[in-house]
Amino acid sequence: MRNATHNAAELLKRQPREPPTISHRLPVRPASASEPCAATQWIQNRHRSFRPRIGIVLGSGLGDLAQAIEQPTRIAYREIPGFPEPKVPGHSGQLVLGLLEGAQVAVLQGRCHLYEGWSLEESLRPLRTVLELGIELLILSNASGGINPRFHSGQVVAIDSHINWLFQSTNSPNRHDSSASILMRHGRTYDARWLAKAQETAEELGFALPCATYLATLGPNYETRAEYRAFGRLGADIVGMSTVPESILAMQLGTPVLAFSVVTNVANPDIPTATEHNDVLAWSSLARSRLEPLVSRIASKYFSTTNRNH
Ligand code: HPA
Repeated sequence: MRNATHNAAELLKRQPREPPTISHRLPVRPASASEPCAATQWIQNRHRSFRPRIGIVLGSGLGDLAQAIEQPTRIAYREIPGFPEPKVPGHSGQLVLGLLEGAQVAVLQGRCHLYEGWSLEESLRPLRTVLELGIELLILSNASGGINPRFHSGQVVAIDSHINWLFQSTNSPNRHDSSASILMRHGRTYDARWLAKAQETAEELGFALPCATYLATLGPNYETRAEYRAFGRLGADIVGMSTVPESILAMQLGTPVLAFSVVTNVANPDIPTATEHNDVLAWSSLARSRLEPLVSRIASKYFSTTNRNH
C-alpha cells in the first residue's frame, strides 16, 4: 500500500514545470452543444454582474456547506435549462450563487451520478455550466469508502490521482476535431500547486490533509470484501462513485481542480461489515467540521477581494 501521507510539496517538485507536449487544454465541445451553453447564458442573463471565481461541487451529505454562502441566490436545478435533477438522498439539486468569505462562488449542491441512469453528458451538464461561467478553481467534494487502513471514518483527504473504473471518459472522439486531441495526459488532473496550498491551509487549521488515490466505480452498490481487497491491490486508497468524470472535464477545459473526499467507512475486508447509506451521511456530517473551514479558508486566503495573496 502506498504512503498516503506524502506531501504535495514533494509531488510538486517532481512535476515538470513546462507545459505537457500533448495539450490538456482541448477544444472540447459537448455532444449536444446547445444545452450547456443555454444554461450558461440563462444564468448570465439573470445575474449579469456575477463572475464566480470558485466553483464548488458538494457531494453526499456535504450539501450543508452551502449554508455558509452569504447573499445567496438559490436556483433549483429543475428551473435551469437542460439541468438533470439528482435522485439520491443527500443531493438536493440546487445551484447557489453568492459569497464565501468575500469571494464570489458558484456552488452545485448535489450531483447526478451515472448509476441514476443519466448519460455522462447529462450528469456533467451542471458542472460544464459552472466551468463555462469562467471559474478559476474547481473544488470537488465527495464521500468515499476507505481502503487504505491508515485512514479512518470522518477523515478528510485530498485526491491526488485516480483510477477510472467507470471505463468511460468525457473525451470521446465525437467531441473533438482531430484524433491528436483525443490523446491526453492525465498527470496533472489534480493541480499540485493548489494541493500544496490546501495542505498548508489544513495545517493552519490544525489537521493533516493526506493525499489519496480515488477509484471510481459505477455503483450504486458498495463493494464486496473481495472488491475492496482487489481495489487496494490496484493502488486505490479510497473508492466512490463520482468525481472522476468531473475532474477530467475540468482538466479538458483548463480549470485547476482540488478534490476533497470524506472517508465515511473504512473497509476491513477480513471482518465482514455492512455499509449503509445512513452511516455514510452521518460520517459526512461529522467531517464537515473540517471540510467547511478548509474550503472557507481557501476562499478567504486566495480569492477574497480584500485579501489577494495567491
Ligand atoms: N464504496 C463506494 N462508494 C462509497 C463508499 C464505499 O464504500 N462509501 C461512501 N461512498
